[in-house]
Amino acid sequence: MNLMVAVDERWGIGKDGDLLRRISTDMKRFRAMTTGNVLILGRKTLESFPNKKPLPNREHIVLTQNLGYQAEGVTLCHSIEELPQLLKGFGDKEVFVAGGGSVYEQLLPLCEKAYVTKIHDTYPADTFFPNLDELPEWEIVDEGEALEDEGIKFSFVLYQKKR
Ligand SMILES: NC(=O)c1ccc[n+]([C@@H]2O[C@H](COP(=O)([O-])OP(=O)(O)OC[C@H]3O[C@@H](n4cnc5c(N)ncnc54)[C@H](OP(=O)(O)O)[C@@H]3O)[C@@H](O)[C@H]2O)c1
Repeated sequence: MNLMVAVDERWGIGKDGDLLRRISTDMKRFRAMTTGNVLILGRKTLESFPNKKPLPNREHIVLTQNLGYQAEGVTLCHSIEELPQLLKGFGDKEVFVAGGGSVYEQLLPLCEKAYVTKIHDTYPADTFFPNLDELPEWEIVDEGEALEDEGIKFSFVLYQKKR
């Protein structure tokens, strides 16, 4: 499985249950890469989506410890241990870990590639992603060019786990 995340220069990813910034170029890329595929996300990230609803045209596996939790149009998963069996039901679809902080942290060891949108700025944040530059098992394989959207500078950086 792979992951997609948008980080600022301090690897901040969220504040008060929401993203730090919305970059439409990044959102479009996220949609293009994940449509038709499978997202794994935490319950809090699902609830940060518009109307707390899953995104169209993608399968969602939502982690929650709450056995009574109900959400329409998603597959619930109550522990990381349950995941491999659940994923077998999704055949050959590509699987993307889509946050938030707690889910990235737990599933990072299972990921091969990290599609990191690096925002060239810092914002107040309360949720962070592990700094991949400090983890020896990860390396950058594509730096990505500097881009700008509505005044926000960013780049798409691809990290890969060393073989
Ligand atoms: N920048 C980005 O790319 C990006 C992407 C996604 C999210 N975010 C941001 O990240 C923040 C949310 O992250 P977060 O860490 O607070 O929440 P989260 O990871 O989205 O969700 C946490 C919840 O997931 C469930 N969970 C996590 N691990 C589990 C496990 N092993 N077994 C069962 N359930 C498990 C629990 O739900 P229950 O409490 O129901 O048990 C837990 O409270 C928001 O600010 C969001 O906007 C940023």
